[in-house]
Amino acid sequence: MDKFRITGGRALAGRVTISGAKNSALPCMAAAILTGETVTLHNVPYVRDCLTQRRLLEDLGATVLVPDLRTHKITAANVELFEAPYELVKTMRASVLALGPLIARFGKAKVSLPGGCAIGTRPIDLHLEALKLLGAQVHLEAGYVVARAPKGGRLVGAGIEFPKVTVTGTENLLMAATLARGTTRLMGAAREPEIADLAELLNRMGARVRGAGSETITVEGVEALGGAEHTIIPDRIETGTFIVAAAITGGELEIKDCCPQHLGSVVARLREAGVEIEEVNPTTLHARRSPEGLRASDVTTQPYPDFPTDMQAQYMALMTQARGRSRVTETIFENRFMHASEMQRMGARIQVEGHNTAVVEGPSELSGARVQASDLRASACLVLAGLAARGETLIDRVYHIDRGYEKIEAKLRSVGAEIERVRESVTAQLPPVETVTA
Ligand code: UD1
Repeated sequence: MDKFRITGGRALAGRVTISGAKNSALPCMAAAILTGETVTLHNVPYVRDCLTQRRLLEDLGATVLVPDLRTHKITAANVELFEAPYELVKTMRASVLALGPLIARFGKAKVSLPGGCAIGTRPIDLHLEALKLLGAQVHLEAGYVVARAPKGGRLVGAGIEFPKVTVTGTENLLMAATLARGTTRLMGAAREPEIADLAELLNRMGARVRGAGSETITVEGVEALGGAEHTIIPDRIETGTFIVAAAITGGELEIKDCCPQHLGSVVARLREAGVEIEEVNPTTLHARRSPEGLRASDVTTQPYPDFPTDMQAQYMALMTQARGRSRVTETIFENRFMHASEMQRMGARIQVEGHNTAVVEGPSELSGARVQASDLRASACLVLAGLAARGETLIDRVYHIDRGYEKIEAKLRSVGAEIERVRESVTAQLPPVETVTA
């Protein structure tokens, strides 16, 4: 398993370019299942989750051409399998995004239940209850959800009120409703920019979606969808992570090809904490720590447009360097504080209270240590802590970060970080040739 070796204490300086949003690319790739024509996606980030999603599409029978690293031409003309298997769902929960499009177009779908994951229980009951309201029959079979459209093979539009905001749940239902008979109204829908991006693609494919990005989305079902071309929005979480990287190292970064408009609450909270963030133009931000230094400021995660749970760990790393006491409250996922104990080992003063609050006392001088990444965003947090720490930090299990950050070590190195990937290949573990006995 690869590791990152970081020698901390260097102020970052220079320019970084933001990749496409993983959380938008995944549903957009799944949306290609809705048509037999070709869907071309640009700006797909080169991250492991997108490779996994590609594999899922290919397993179903779709062809995926990748003329350059970030363009995917997906044609789901000959789908032969209607299933997202356990092997894929267990490595990437977002493979459940195949459920909505499969049942919408083919009237049947089988998707493994995701089970527990490192950031707590993440059920899909809300997806299933909503699909039932569209007329689907859903039952469980040996760890799989088996869903079928009603007689006639088509879902039927309905009013659906989500009792809790769910991002992939909204996306699944949005996709399912595009080919349903009649009109579907999704209430209590997630408002994340990735939902609006998906809706834009669906409309280009011929769907009739209105209101995406607001709490109520209306979908008028159509008979069939066709091919389309679409560019994925920039990754707002990667953008936020680089803003924190500039601030935590006391450096300054120009962050290009991002969408500041999608970062309202993140920018607001970081400014309160003493990060200077300037919008250079509609796609470029400039970020640095203010000369007065960082100050403690509380944060509570909430669905968009509030502060994202996917920035909670990185924010906590920043607060270890801020003057005073800050409370970080996590309301979306249980058990999403594993990075706290790893940072404690580096000298951070963090007290976890109950399931959802961490109190950080700062500033504390972090020192390099051997730590372990537990999930995607926790790994980003440990990289940030390593950049700010004195001495060497060795981060184990960086495959988590490879799921969602495109070439993070190369991007950081290009702005002055001392970070390298330590590859642990099987051959590296073999003894040198001369010591091998016959
Ligand atoms: C998506 C994002 C993830 C982000 C999360 C919250 C993708 C691929 N992933 O994940 O990066 O951290 O949104 O912004 O876009 N819930 C249920 N029942 C359900 C569905 C969800 O109880 O059927 C709960 C979850 O356990 C969680 C909350 O609802 O507590 C929100 O989860 P959800 O928005 O569904 O997260 P994901 O879509 O999985």
